[in-house]
Amino acid sequence: MDIDTKIKELKKRNLAAELGGGQKRIDQQHSKGKMTARERIDYLLDKNSFQEIDKFVVHQCHDFGMEKNKMPGDGVVTGYGTVNGKQVFLFAQDFTMFGGSLSGAFGEKVCKVMDLALNNGAPMIGLNDSGGARIQEGVESLSGYGEIFRRNVWSSGVIPQISVIMGPCAGGAVYSPALTDFTIMVKKTSNMFITGPQVIKEVTGEEVTTEALGGAMAHNTKSGVAHFAEDSDRAALDRVKNILSYLPQNYRKTPDVIECTDDPERTDKALNDVVPLNPRMPYDIKDIIRSILDNNVFHEAHKYFAQNMVVGFGRLNGISVGITANQPKFFAGCLDIKASVKCARFVRTCDAFNIPLITFVDVPGYLPGVNQEYGGIIKYGADVIFAFAEATVPKITIITRKAYGGAYIAMSSKHLAGDISLAYPTAEIAVMGPEGAANIIFKKEIAEADDPVATKQKLVDEYRNNFASPFKASEKGYIDGVILPENTRPKVIKALMMLKEKYVLLPEKKHANIPF
Ligand code: HXC
Repeated sequence: MDIDTKIKELKKRNLAAELGGGQKRIDQQHSKGKMTARERIDYLLDKNSFQEIDKFVVHQCHDFGMEKNKMPGDGVVTGYGTVNGKQVFLFAQDFTMFGGSLSGAFGEKVCKVMDLALNNGAPMIGLNDSGGARIQEGVESLSGYGEIFRRNVWSSGVIPQISVIMGPCAGGAVYSPALTDFTIMVKKTSNMFITGPQVIKEVTGEEVTTEALGGAMAHNTKSGVAHFAEDSDRAALDRVKNILSYLPQNYRKTPDVIECTDDPERTDKALNDVVPLNPRMPYDIKDIIRSILDNNVFHEAHKYFAQNMVVGFGRLNGISVGITANQPKFFAGCLDIKASVKCARFVRTCDAFNIPLITFVDVPGYLPGVNQEYGGIIKYGADVIFAFAEATVPKITIITRKAYGGAYIAMSSKHLAGDISLAYPTAEIAVMGPEGAANIIFKKEIAEADDPVATKQKLVDEYRNNFASPFKASEKGYIDGVILPENTRPKVIKALMMLKEKYVLLPEKKHANIPF
């Protein structure tokens, strides 16, 4: 055979692999509004950067006539490339081949690229679009999943892992995305569930559609399994690029500092009026967050889940920061089970990847209720304390209004090794709200008064003025300063720059034992 023939053979094989499951299945994929695996990779990675691995791998199954049904690549495209010049590794499940289902060979391809990502300290991105375990293979497929899950766990906290759900993701297959740092779902075309509507109907009698059970909004609003819901494949891939821009390559690195085009000394007089004096009046904490961040850009994660807590990324003086904030607009910003889990998880993600934490506090406490207690608010509330106390990244806290009781401590207080705590003049830092406090400590005076209502109001006001202010806490050094709201951005940036070289090691251990 001469060289021309050999080159022809290679080209022929390349073309066959690149055609995936064939034009008909590609057309079907497009007709559902989905891109193919290769189109997704092309869109995500920098031009000409993709280097494919294992393009000609085929499955080794000899049952059910599968030996006559082999396709190069076997349903997944794997390899490496760059996003905005930075190395990443990825796999893209190819629904046009065997429904993107996972065979033994497919699993080995994914594991190979995950090992490369871990050993080379670069983010791993998974584009999911699959019918799950390759039914013709059985246990080989299960072993593939198990090997992937183990790598997800071993990579956790070492390299960023991002999952995009761009089609079906069912059964045990959902656990790989669930083990990664961020899950992005595409609206209408993606779904995730352990057991589908049919099985649920047989087992529990409940009737539910696939979309209502496991669609993008179900997991963004109800379960919190997904962090982002995007309108299209392209928007989901743009989200990957956006998240990567705030993260380092691995835990040993810090995120890129970009040139800041916004004045670090910029003040905002409007902030003086954002927090209402009436403690019962809600306001939008995102007005403050956006105001202080560079160019007012805030990328919220978990936007639709537990909206009484706000988390997301932004930049201060070009430095990537993670924001956590109580949101008085929803449930008065209280900490309930979902908000606690959302907050603790985000704090740990930021801490794992050296992203400083900026925390805004306006929290009346943990949500009272039998359901909350039975649901485990004690252990989930403890997660918030655990996450903040364990985080060794720079931690800057701004108390805008209420900081009561255990929730005051939990929300990145000095007592949990917060570095700099600032308070607005409107801050109320106390063991509990003035109303509740007056009811308890002045119970007798109120009961015996000629006018109990007026007496109670007087005592509540007295308590508020004496204790529910930032000054008691600042007299004791529990907060480092009371600031004018308009100066929040320059104050926080100065604290952040001061903390640039912060280096703290926790006591040596195998690993901590977070309650969950
Ligand atoms: C083998 C599969 C497959 C699978 C789909 N295909 N899923 N082949 N194993 N799991 C094939 C189909 O035979 C078909 O092949 C092609 O992929 C496209 O599938 P369609 O059914 O035509 O597509 P669509 O109508 O869009 O439906 C997609 C689907 C459905 C909802 C995903 O295919 C489906 O329900 N598949 C089975 C899902 C499932 O039960 N998986 C196992 C879950 S258990 P042709 O040749 O006709 O194009 C599991 C355990 C994992 O995953 C445990 C890990 C710990």
